[in-house]
Amino acid sequence: MKICKTINETTSLLSIFINDGKKIGFVPTMGALHKGHISLINISKKQNDITVVSIFVNPTQFNDKQDYIKYPRNSEKDLEMLSNTGCDLVFMPDDKEMYPEPDNRIFDLGNLETIMEGKFRPGHFQCVAGIVSKLFDIIKPDKAYFGQKDFQQLSVIKRLVQITNSKVQIISCPIIREENGLALSSRNLRLSVEEFKQAAIIYKTINQLSTFLENNKFCEFKTWAIKQIDKISLFKTEYIEIVDTETLGIVKDIKYHKSITCCIAVYCGQIRLIDNIQINL
Ligand code: PAF
Repeated sequence: MKICKTINETTSLLSIFINDGKKIGFVPTMGALHKGHISLINISKKQNDITVVSIFVNPTQFNDKQDYIKYPRNSEKDLEMLSNTGCDLVFMPDDKEMYPEPDNRIFDLGNLETIMEGKFRPGHFQCVAGIVSKLFDIIKPDKAYFGQKDFQQLSVIKRLVQITNSKVQIISCPIIREENGLALSSRNLRLSVEEFKQAAIIYKTINQLSTFLENNKFCEFKTWAIKQIDKISLFKTEYIEIVDTETLGIVKDIKYHKSITCCIAVYCGQIRLIDNIQINL
């Protein structure tokens, strides 16, 4: 497994594979790797000749400075996991390499910036779009792999590809869950043993949406769900929404939709957890 820290080293190595007609699969990450990331890499390995993983904790996409400072980092363990998974190339730039100067581009992300994650994390998706477009320009992948846990991020990336006329094919990959149902996330590493146990309530609750679909009882569901979660001390639901899986428009009547997704963000103390479930109608 080759480890590259600079853009030059990465592009010159990759150009050899690209000129050779090799298909490049790309998994962008912020490190603190877990089984969810490994599942993306395994899918990429099946579909491509070369799999590239980037590890870069992008400072600009964090709204909360403490969240950035406390974001788990463990490159030694990450590299061991990547090598065991059969990753071919790891791109691990530092901040100066990715931002020799500030990135002031603005992407037209439409409603994605004003709802759910966009509303509660202003500017976040502009910076995600910015860093992903830089990474795509460097790696030039055929396919890029993103987890459905970050459901709205996936829509942002699909939109980015559309507005920048990029040829990268975006592959959305299933959420991987702990045995208790909690969606895998690097931030789970910051939960105490007790919080980890309690956080099972998030998936358990949103999973009940199907029992509220008759007569479109969405308001009732949201009120019930918030009550279930917020009755646990330290837990505070930031938002819960039921949206169309494609357009992310708010769902009022299921008869107008093929697939709906229930998205939730919950604070567990200082740690913010997101999750979602999709129901095909
Ligand atoms: O999902 C993530 O880990 C990050 O948002 C990404 C896509 C690597 C961009 O920094």
